[in-house]
Amino acid sequence: MSNETLSNLLHEERRFPPSEEFAAHAVAKADLYEQAQADRLGFWDEQARALSWAQPWTQTLDWTNPPFAKWFVGGTLNVAYNCVDRHVEAGNGDRVAIHFEGEPGDTRTLTYAELQREVSKAANALTALGVQAGDRVAIYLPMIPEAIVSMLACARIGAPHSVVFGGFSSSALRSRIEDADARVVITADGGYRRGAPAALKPAVDEAVDGLDAVRSVLVVRRTGQDVAWTDRDVWWHEALEAADDVHEAQPFDAEHPLFILYTSGTTGKPKGILHTSGGYLTQAAYTHRNVFDLRPERDVYWCTADIGWVTGHSYIVYGPLANGATQVIYEGTPDTPHRGRFWEIVQKYGVTQLYTAPTAIRTFMKWGDDIPAEFDLSSLRVLGSVGEPINPEAWVWYRRVIGGDRTPVVDTWWQTETGAMMISPLPGVTAAKPGSAQVALPGIGIDVLDDEGHPVPNGSGGYLVLTEPWPSMLRGIWGDDERYKETYWSRFKGMYFAGDGAKKDEDGDIWLLGRVDDVMNVSGHRLSTTEIESALVSHPKVAEAAVVGATDETTGQAVCAFVILRGDAGYDESQADAVIKELRDHVAHEIGPIAKPRQVMVVAELPKTRSGKIMRRLLRDVAENRQVGDVTTLADSTVMDLIKQGLSTGK
Ligand code: WTA
Repeated sequence: MSNETLSNLLHEERRFPPSEEFAAHAVAKADLYEQAQADRLGFWDEQARALSWAQPWTQTLDWTNPPFAKWFVGGTLNVAYNCVDRHVEAGNGDRVAIHFEGEPGDTRTLTYAELQREVSKAANALTALGVQAGDRVAIYLPMIPEAIVSMLACARIGAPHSVVFGGFSSSALRSRIEDADARVVITADGGYRRGAPAALKPAVDEAVDGLDAVRSVLVVRRTGQDVAWTDRDVWWHEALEAADDVHEAQPFDAEHPLFILYTSGTTGKPKGILHTSGGYLTQAAYTHRNVFDLRPERDVYWCTADIGWVTGHSYIVYGPLANGATQVIYEGTPDTPHRGRFWEIVQKYGVTQLYTAPTAIRTFMKWGDDIPAEFDLSSLRVLGSVGEPINPEAWVWYRRVIGGDRTPVVDTWWQTETGAMMISPLPGVTAAKPGSAQVALPGIGIDVLDDEGHPVPNGSGGYLVLTEPWPSMLRGIWGDDERYKETYWSRFKGMYFAGDGAKKDEDGDIWLLGRVDDVMNVSGHRLSTTEIESALVSHPKVAEAAVVGATDETTGQAVCAFVILRGDAGYDESQADAVIKELRDHVAHEIGPIAKPRQVMVVAELPKTRSGKIMRRLLRDVAENRQVGDVTTLADSTVMDLIKQGLSTGK
């Protein structure tokens, strides 16, 4: 973000206080902040008591071996029991848990009682396949109810799941299966994407080829397309038909691993972020209830994320279901079969809370106000945003056009690593400021530090840190304690470094400014520059590659790649388009379509410092069509002229 945009942002004068009516009935009251301030751990104890524990904890937080935290020490619970069975036992078995809307328009409704039977059958089926507590299960599914059932079935038997986004390639899937040493993979023949079936099973076949540790592949039939079949494949519907629909859930330790979720870091190798049970569920449920002002008996909540991302874990599966919410899940894209699909869904189900990403909001803005105007959106009460900074204009549009100038908008900052929301206004309490995530949630400690680790004064920027351990914090990186310490806890002593830049405005409110490391944020998805560079260099024609995230109006950032081709690639300019296409497709194949560069530029040189480090800042200037900045530290200061000349003449 340029300094100019930044100072514009910080002069944002518009304020949106909650209406009196909303404030009077709000779930979250202002005294939450005082309670948490007065007794932070006591505050978290109280939040944890909203869950059902088999055995109470004896200690709220054990922080004697930082940065390895233990929350609710000695407590035991079953996460799936908390998300499903207890609602049935409380007499809410007939409440809808899931309204499923398939992309082709097929629908399915699951009540809590039905969900209980499905999850029980799936838990029995997994047990029959030999899955035991502690074994890892990989899940590679479209957004269908079976995705949620699978995750809960794993949680129920204490088998940590590793959900891999269905848009990732077979090699990305394979490396995640290998890293977690998964025993079973749950997938589908395919899912519907932009009006057509998109296959998933072939990617799994490729990914598990030769991996003997994978004992079974459970396959959900979704599209009915042909699939290749091997001895270890089992149809989901057959396995579940054979399974009993009653399953006794055993309690597990509060620190029992619940899931691993891979996320891009600054190196080529994705990090397996580890989350455990009691603290994670406590914070997911607490934030979901308070930030969305949830009234489970009458609300219809909808989060548009995919379960392949952490937002889907915490705010589709665990938070909402722990709270007994009724929710919508949607399989497809916002423009299939038409650009009003989201609004049609809101109208059809009477959605009360909508949680989506700034990229989607900016796209809807571009498509125009007329489209949402065709639908009745008056059921909406709270709008949420997550995944990237939301610019004030998009925020105001979201509130005005989607929220009828009436609904609070909550901009929620958090990460895969934090497990649940950390910074967000509270609807009914906070006077909202468009573009700012504003304040730490009650119970959370944050600050913005300068290079030396001192808190910056209001009006200044620096690095966002979390100053206190929190219940849903990651417990580490799967199999790599050193990397955990090094990545998050070494930059500032005793504090968690989030990797984001932030600024405090004159009121002390927080403005998120994007990543300060080599992680890009494209449409709210984290991508590592290094990972894409390695994918490019793995292509036989590429000698060297540098990747930058350039500002993009819609997707926030876009992947721009600069490549030097190998001398023996026999490249001449007439092939430029073909080579560029080949390289873009190669990245999509290696990592997934989300990582496909918007632009690939073939260059003769890359700008490097004398120590050989690529100066991405200068490449970003080129990618964003800006005057190239200070080149004095380059080993060869003429390189940038060469690159610009080459690009303008198409060389
Ligand atoms: C960015 C997604 C600004 C941030 C939940 C963070 C945001 C990364 C916001 C985590 C927000 C997320 N405002 N930036 N409200 N929410 N981010 O792990 O850079 O996929 O570090 O988790 O997204 O991405 P992740």
